[in-house]
Amino acid sequence: MSDQATLAEVLTVEHHAIDAGIEKFVAASPGGPIGEWSAPLVQAMAALRRHIYLEEELVFPSLRNGPLMMPIMVMLNEHGEMWRRMAALDEQLAADGVDQEPLRSEVAAACTEMLGLLADHNSKEEPVIYPHLDSDMDDDSRAFLRDFLDDGTTPDGWECARAAA
Ligand SMILES: [Fe+2]
Ligand SMILES: [Fe+2]
Repeated sequence: MSDQATLAEVLTVEHHAIDAGIEKFVAASPGGPIGEWSAPLVQAMAALRRHIYLEEELVFPSLRNGPLMMPIMVMLNEHGEMWRRMAALDEQLAADGVDQEPLRSEVAAACTEMLGLLADHNSKEEPVIYPHLDSDMDDDSRAFLRDFLDDGTTPDGWECARAAA
């Protein structure tokens, strides 16, 4: 991603990449090692966890003391729901026979529900929150976020604010 891209554009691209990874998994037929089949989903969930981390730790704190307080509360609640669904998906993927019926259809259905949650979340976050990234975050916060986007990783053991229902 070039430096020309706005932060709003970069985070929107992340949304699309995460969706695409989950969609690829849903569309794929199992075959070969289980790890190869599940890789797009595992990678998409790692990307989503990192995305939620950077929003909650590097973006929202800069924006929540203003008119975005309530929308950010909604975003935090939805992140919590996604976080719990990802934990459930991890369990499903670890089960024996997940690449065979009926478990395969169950994990695909859970992924389709996840895609619905993401679509609903992103359809609010992109127009309501993201326009403020490039205009309302201070220079240091924006620079820190750009550095993190390059090569930052979710800290071990980090959980989103509303991981517990
Ligand atoms: Fe979000
Ligand atoms: Fe997001």
